[in-house]
Amino acid sequence: VLSWDNAVMMPNGGAEARAEQMATLSALHHELLTSPRIADDLDAAEQGRAALDAWQAANLREMRRIWRHATALPADLVEQRSRINARAEMVWREARAADDFALLRPHFEEVVRLVREVGAAKAEALGLEPYDALMESFEPDARKARIDPVFTRLAEAIPSLLDAVLERQAAASAPQRPKGPFPIEAQRGLAVRLMEALGFDFRHGRLDISHHPFTGGVPDDVRITTRYSEEDFAESLMGVLHETGHALYERGLPAKWREQPVGDARGMVLHESQSLLIEMQLCRSRDFLTFAAPLMRETFGGGGTAWSVDSLTRSAQRVSRGLIRVDADEVTYPLHVILRYRLEQAMLAGDLAARDLPGAWNDGIRSLLGVVPPDDRAGCLQDIHWPAGAFGYFPTYTLGALAAAQLFQAAKAALPDLAADVRQGSFAGLLAWLRDNVHGLGSRQSTDEILTAVTGEPLGADAFLAHLETRYLSDGD
Ligand code: CO
Repeated sequence: VLSWDNAVMMPNGGAEARAEQMATLSALHHELLTSPRIADDLDAAEQGRAALDAWQAANLREMRRIWRHATALPADLVEQRSRINARAEMVWREARAADDFALLRPHFEEVVRLVREVGAAKAEALGLEPYDALMESFEPDARKARIDPVFTRLAEAIPSLLDAVLERQAAASAPQRPKGPFPIEAQRGLAVRLMEALGFDFRHGRLDISHHPFTGGVPDDVRITTRYSEEDFAESLMGVLHETGHALYERGLPAKWREQPVGDARGMVLHESQSLLIEMQLCRSRDFLTFAAPLMRETFGGGGTAWSVDSLTRSAQRVSRGLIRVDADEVTYPLHVILRYRLEQAMLAGDLAARDLPGAWNDGIRSLLGVVPPDDRAGCLQDIHWPAGAFGYFPTYTLGALAAAQLFQAAKAALPDLAADVRQGSFAGLLAWLRDNVHGLGSRQSTDEILTAVTGEPLGADAFLAHLETRYLSDGD
């Protein structure tokens, strides 16, 4: 809630005091977690494991996992890392605005040096390869050996699929887009109506404005944010629906295990699967827009071709070879992620020096997507993740998209009336299914165990590629 306040409410003058508050809390948190008493308690509890039920045993396993991560790094390395990352992040804002990689470079070299040190220390403590050890902080059990073949398959399949999609979309006339301005109050009203329809409970949550959209808070008080543009309502709306998916997951976590590790979300892969299931699988579908189009027309007084279900759907499913990951459609998005996945491993291994990043970036994006950035702002300076020290995070976006496709396919099979319900704006069945099969499980099982139980398969690319074929190359959804 302090971070939410920082991003949404706090006057700029409070920044320094807030940074102190956050640093104090995180130091206390780390001190409690790594105290010798905790280690003794964990050992003692593990002796009595046989008496625990499945939830308790999973809770203990998660406690041990969190403890291992907390004790993996010496305190001075943690302190150094937060200082260097915070500075690099600040310089990155300037460097991106000025399109000046050279400005960032010395700071970024420090970040990479520390990431390599952290990776080595974590690898040692956890008995993993350094990249796996880094991914673990975002997605437990994520392993390069499992991800490599899946990403290789996507990197092979998507480019030719993309050619076919672009050819097909170019052959049809471009969809007309609704013309603004779209008043912000009206946009907010529409967003709230759709959030409520999807099951977002405003007695336990809020929608506010921030520079970068995010989901924060706690399960009983879930805060999501968006930003509005008066020229285009769809971008903000789809962002809200994305965050609503994250929020529904948080809200649906097992109430009995609040404030316990096993009651937390499983990891970033399932988290992103829930936002992408709502945004991509559901809300960009023709069925959903059949329900939403009349509400959109009513909200903005729209009429004519641009406001037809067909135009709105074709706009929501428009594909292009873009340079910017956060603006990418679901067909090209995995290519943006695969580029980062390869480059961050090369930097971690010491095979790619920070100074060579811009060139490696441009070569990589050209070979994957067939486009070349005109400058580093549209290239290697576009994301905050690396300057902030988050190596091993990017793959979770695409793994989340794969999981979303797999789960939505299973939901359609389990709920024969789903399409008809969606066209009528009835989502209670889908939400109940997600609560039973994903949200309510918290961290009891691994991501792969949860997916296998629901879909019959561990995480893979089949459902996602089938979804792309259906949506973009046939007259499907
Ligand atoms: Co997300």
